[in-house]
Amino acid sequence: MRINSRSRFNKTLILIIFAMAGCGCMTAASQSGRTPDRIILNLTENPAVSQAVTWRTDDDVKDSQAQIMLATDYLDTDNNVSTLDAETEPVSVDDVKTAYYHSVVFKDLKPNTLYAYRVGSKDIWSEWNQFKTASDAAAPLKFVYFGDPQVELESKCSRVFRMSYKKAPDAAFWFFVGDTVNNGEYDNEWGEFFSALGWAPRVTPFILTPGNHEYKKRPGAPSLQANKPINLEQKGLSRLWRPQFTLPQNGPAGLEESAYYLDYQDVRIVMLNGTEKIEEQAKWLKKVLSKNPQRWTIVGIHQPFYSTGEDRDNPYNRSLFIKIFDKYAVDLVLQGHDHTYGRTYKLLNGVKQPDDKPGTVYTVSVSGPKQYDPNKRFESLMAKMGTKKQLFQVITIGKDTLRYESFTATGELFDSFTLKK
Ligand SMILES: [Fe+2]
Ligand SMILES: [Fe+2]
Repeated sequence: MRINSRSRFNKTLILIIFAMAGCGCMTAASQSGRTPDRIILNLTENPAVSQAVTWRTDDDVKDSQAQIMLATDYLDTDNNVSTLDAETEPVSVDDVKTAYYHSVVFKDLKPNTLYAYRVGSKDIWSEWNQFKTASDAAAPLKFVYFGDPQVELESKCSRVFRMSYKKAPDAAFWFFVGDTVNNGEYDNEWGEFFSALGWAPRVTPFILTPGNHEYKKRPGAPSLQANKPINLEQKGLSRLWRPQFTLPQNGPAGLEESAYYLDYQDVRIVMLNGTEKIEEQAKWLKKVLSKNPQRWTIVGIHQPFYSTGEDRDNPYNRSLFIKIFDKYAVDLVLQGHDHTYGRTYKLLNGVKQPDDKPGTVYTVSVSGPKQYDPNKRFESLMAKMGTKKQLFQVITIGKDTLRYESFTATGELFDSFTLKK
């Protein structure tokens, strides 16, 4: 989302637009530099009454807007449409050109209601897309969780995204736990990600947290020095992260849109950023979970607490967070990073618990084709492990049950379990 505001008006440009619109030579299909692309819905803190959308253009669109209306069988777009001005942020892309990111948060929406929206400007609009707001009370929920896509996004991740859409077309949102791309500084990789997704993010809101691959050396930055602390000027969260998403900003200072929480119906979802400011997040998480009225609690983080990747372990993160998850009865921790699959039994303080006792289930998954050999360090805690599989997970939550199903890229069930309250 936009970080700094600006206000501009260019009469010359308007005249040119009117002239071109008059000759009928500018349409959404014309692929002008003003054409909206990379359109993505993101959940807000209050998904029952608001919805964020972000898109980008190659050209500097000064009259960027979004329109919204109740979705009906016949869209009467001559009436009933609300128009909102977008916020716009220019971003230097690959140190070569500037891209323009636009965002709007639709507010004061009705819960559990289907809306139609489009983005663009007076001369070039996207198609009308639809989204549904969350219910404002407990209600059944389905969403899809993906481990790292990271590489071969177009070539080999597309089929996973498409199979997940076929398997769960009614998912309320898609949930990504980082390493979305291989180098978060490279615009072409994000372009490939959006291309692989097709229109899915235009109709299904996304929530994402960054992985270490969204923290890569910036083009032109001084080289990193071995054994020296990371200088975030050299290697910070990708400059493309915040402009291209519009995520909640209710996390610790400095981690806006990368660590945050939201309540979707009766589920509290907390996204942690496992790459920086870990101690601050542990303190913040205690506060977020100590005042949690929701029936279910799910945490997303990139780096796993019980690593399944070869030669990997994160004992410091484990020492900070496990006791918090135990104390506040987190149901499920969804992770990535290790390019394998692993799902623990219910654990309490790192010890396996019977199914009918309290405990937290930790899962690692991977949606992309980069795969590692499994680490057996925590094998005794794992109910299921695997590798050489591109996977996605459909999670279905009812009043008293949480059903988790992991599917392969070919749509076969690979792992499943049910949590009961
Ligand atoms: Fe990673
Ligand atoms: Fe990764």
